[in-house]
Amino acid sequence: MKDAKGRVDAGYRMHTFVCGHSRPENSPRGCCSAKNSLELMRILKNTAKERGIDDVRVQKSGCLDFCENGISCVIYPQGEWFTLTPEAIPDILDYLEGGVLPVAHLMDLKA
Ligand code: FES
Repeated sequence: MKDAKGRVDAGYRMHTFVCGHSRPENSPRGCCSAKNSLELMRILKNTAKERGIDDVRVQKSGCLDFCENGISCVIYPQGEWFTLTPEAIPDILDYLEGGVLPVAHLMDLKA
């Protein structure tokens, strides 16, 4: 049986979560939404759609607990963690299309 979008199987080839969590302004850990995470998530999601990447889900998540290194972004099933920036978006989109892992944007806890 097909769903409302005509699909017969559940699931996605890749699943991209972008933290949209918000904390008060003086929070010591900060938060991704204060770094414009929701706008970057929308750009990533809309551009993926424009490029015809329809087997990858891009969506907002709650806190991914790497707040200081955010904007936190993780892609499954690979389990690759990125710091999402405007500059990372084209490389992440290439990755979602099957390109090489954009190592320059991997989350670096030493940074
Ligand atoms: S607020 Fe984004 S990872 Fe915690």
